[in-house]
Amino acid sequence: MCGIVAYVGNKEAYPILIRGLKRLEYRGYDSAGIALLNDKELNIYKKQGKVSELEAFTINKNLKGNIGIGHTRWATHGLPNDVNSHPHFTTNKDIAIIHNGIIENYSTLKEELISRGYQFRSETDTEVIVHLIDDIMKTEKVDLVEAVRHALLSVTGAYALVVISNKHPDTLIAARKSSPLVVGIGKENEFYLASDATPIVEYTKQVVYLNDEEIAILDRNSGLKIVHLSKEEKTPYIQELELHLEALEKGGFEHFMLKEIFEQPKTIHDCFRGRLNTEQGWVNLGGLKDYHQKLLNANRLIFVACGTSWHAAQVGEYLIEELARINVEVEYASEFRYRNPIINEQDVVIAISQSGETADTLAALELAKSKGATIIGICNVVGSSISRITDAGSYTHAGPEIGVASTKAFTAQVTILTLLALLLANKKGTVSAAKFHEIISELENIPKKVKEILDKNNLIKEIATQYKDAKNALYLGRGSSFPVALEGALKLKEISYIHAEGYPAAEMKHGPIALIDEEMPVFVIATKGTSYEKVVSNIQEVKARKGKIIAIVTEGDEQVKSMADHIIEIPDTNEHLVPLLATIPFQLLSYHISVMRGCNVDQPRNLAKSVTVE
Ligand code: G6P
Repeated sequence: MCGIVAYVGNKEAYPILIRGLKRLEYRGYDSAGIALLNDKELNIYKKQGKVSELEAFTINKNLKGNIGIGHTRWATHGLPNDVNSHPHFTTNKDIAIIHNGIIENYSTLKEELISRGYQFRSETDTEVIVHLIDDIMKTEKVDLVEAVRHALLSVTGAYALVVISNKHPDTLIAARKSSPLVVGIGKENEFYLASDATPIVEYTKQVVYLNDEEIAILDRNSGLKIVHLSKEEKTPYIQELELHLEALEKGGFEHFMLKEIFEQPKTIHDCFRGRLNTEQGWVNLGGLKDYHQKLLNANRLIFVACGTSWHAAQVGEYLIEELARINVEVEYASEFRYRNPIINEQDVVIAISQSGETADTLAALELAKSKGATIIGICNVVGSSISRITDAGSYTHAGPEIGVASTKAFTAQVTILTLLALLLANKKGTVSAAKFHEIISELENIPKKVKEILDKNNLIKEIATQYKDAKNALYLGRGSSFPVALEGALKLKEISYIHAEGYPAAEMKHGPIALIDEEMPVFVIATKGTSYEKVVSNIQEVKARKGKIIAIVTEGDEQVKSMADHIIEIPDTNEHLVPLLATIPFQLLSYHISVMRGCNVDQPRNLAKSVTVE
């Protein structure tokens, strides 16, 4: 939520900032802005809309400077207009700031500053910080770094921020608390800063992830210095990035989302590679190796997550309860943290998060930790905040996911949860050796079967043309296909703006059935398995009300075929693995409908990929 990029060194900063902002645009695209320092002149350009609009706006402007900061905004306080765009600056334009996060006590601070004569241009919480820094420098007669430190001691809330000043033409000052920030170390005192490593990776692989309440001073003469808010000096911990540039490109696909959907045979494989062995009959998650007993003896496993990750957690609940017979609860992180949950040392709280930065999920983990629970993370982004605060965890290894609507991260999360369920079931002896073997060998076939579904892309596109103008849609599933229905509905609404709801198929009778008429597409997962006959009855109920049925069925199915308006066949698989396959047609359907409606597939309106505010 909001992307930050900054550079100091001997190269021209502008192209680095613009390229970086484009990489970070997934974090918010309400407005974009930059500040460039050239010969003690601080030039600020900002514009409502996408980075491309900022680029157009800056043509023919003075874009010189080897030091600068850039920001792409997801609006929290104040409309997404030019004035509220970052950077924000002091009255005399000596100091400019970019910020990601929320300053909770901004209105009190603002009142104080107004009473001291400060005038505010914007409605943002961020502008408070820059005036506060200015005020502290004047009243306390301290230098800029000290003023930043004092200002941060006065604010409550979350921040990742960067400060630039024309009085310090060689220095950037950055700080973080609860919002991510990573420093890239280039050649000869050249530094990059960004909300994640994607703007940095093409220049350097040496990075330092800042910790909460740390201030980084990046100086092209004296190098990098990190101090804690308490003034204690910290030794920078330099890590090598594993990220590859190609992973950040569209690779010939029209959209990142489509590329990411088509990557799934590989990403699912990458996720289980080295973690199972069919011949020797084991499943292993290296990051959890010291926590097997803790998990097996846990009172409950509590999953906390948001959005798509919450749907993956729901699949995990079915799998773990069914296979390992361990009590599982799934919680929206935002609800969990505010309802005084009963947690103790016997509980294991597992966060699922693609970004590893979602504010509510992080806060839920912190709460659980404070109550003595063991905390575990299932994250995609290596080095993310959740992966660093948890006791243990597993990475999903799906690679960078750029499309705002999550696809490959979801199937990777479900893959990890399947492995976790199998691991625990095997250790606990709640599945027979034959069943364990059957599921792990079938898991190895899943990438190939996903590929077979992707080969039906043209058929799915054809079906999409018939429903692109729908106003509403229902998604139905039972058992572990119910969360797949929820995820299908979420995909459709977030990228095509069609109202869609996911329901357990049998619940349809308790309300949604009233909505069904000949205009209503009903997407149903009706694959072979325990609930098949029941779902067939639900399909009959929809047909009796003239609803349109688009059914995902097991290859060779005849019964549903005779009732449905359209069927999409998926290869037969073990019932526990159906979510990994059934979700793929829904992703493609949503994708095509979104394209046909002319929507922005990769950057849907009002959304952001990494939600670092509550
Ligand atoms: C946002 C994204 C979703 C994502 C959710 C949780 O809403 O748009 O795609 O599922 O955040 O994010 P996380 O990174 O914690 O999985």
